[in-house]
Amino acid sequence: MFLIFAYFYTGRADDQKQNAIPKVGVLQLMSHPALDQINKGIDDTLKKNGYIDGKNVKIEFQNAQGDQSNLRTISKQFVQDNVDVAVGIATPSVQSLKNATSKIPIVMGAVTDPEGAGIISNNQKPGGNITGVSDQAPLEAQLELMKKVIPNLKSIGIIYTSSDASATSQMKKMEAIAKKQGLTVKVSSINSVNDIQQVGTALAQGVQTIYVPTDNTVASGMKLLSSIAAKQNIAVFPAATTMVKDGGLATVGLSQYELGEETGKHVVRILEHKEDPATTPVTFMKKGHLMLNEKMAQKLNIQFPDSLVKEAQKKGQIIK
Ligand code: TRP
Repeated sequence: MFLIFAYFYTGRADDQKQNAIPKVGVLQLMSHPALDQINKGIDDTLKKNGYIDGKNVKIEFQNAQGDQSNLRTISKQFVQDNVDVAVGIATPSVQSLKNATSKIPIVMGAVTDPEGAGIISNNQKPGGNITGVSDQAPLEAQLELMKKVIPNLKSIGIIYTSSDASATSQMKKMEAIAKKQGLTVKVSSINSVNDIQQVGTALAQGVQTIYVPTDNTVASGMKLLSSIAAKQNIAVFPAATTMVKDGGLATVGLSQYELGEETGKHVVRILEHKEDPATTPVTFMKKGHLMLNEKMAQKLNIQFPDSLVKEAQKKGQIIK
């Protein structure tokens, strides 16, 4: 009799405990330094706001390893687990979560172009269960930087992955900006990391420098791309600071960690019922951080203008 009572008692207590702790499902597309930084920013922000994993929140983190069917399986799992908030890191993760639920709030962890990717129809008034953060890079400033560093810049190459919605959107924007300024633009696309060697080599041959958008595939093969280009004495200017650490020459890019922090803030507000995705505009971050790679500059025999070096030094954003 006592045993039966105890059985029911603990069973009920467990159920109650599970319902009392909110669950956050985090789905990251793949590992590359930028997405890892975003995830760290999310985690730290939850902690800073008093949400300790395993204590008063359950964070279910899953990495899809760049695989579509993993994305689907994990998204379904989050819905089955009835998570209180689902976070998608990178566009394909959010698209997959969107396909799995129209009820559970979804926070975008850095989707470059939410409207262009068909995730929401209006960044100001999302209208459904999705809001979050865009990592749209300051493209004009990035092109300005390229002109400051490469004298007499007349031609740029852009390499991007054709199936990557965020990269495609940025490629088109950068192409338009550069053409408007009278530059010649050569665009080359890849399907997977395996194409970087061949496509990167060919592209480097016909241009003065290469620009890379926030492209998930190129980000994971950034070290390879920059070393291939360097062999032909060509610098790679990436859209994100993490890619400068992987061999890019320089950027004025958004801090990936800060993108994660902003994403985390959306999560906290939703957990605390202070935010409804339907009426919460997408967060755009304007502030780019200058980052220079001195080591790469030496390799390429490039001298950064003094003013740039001074600015980057002030913020400790020089890789030596
Ligand atoms: N914006 C990308 C997407 O929407 C994800 C992303 C964020 C990213 N930061 C990046 C990709 C840096 C490459 C490099 O899918």
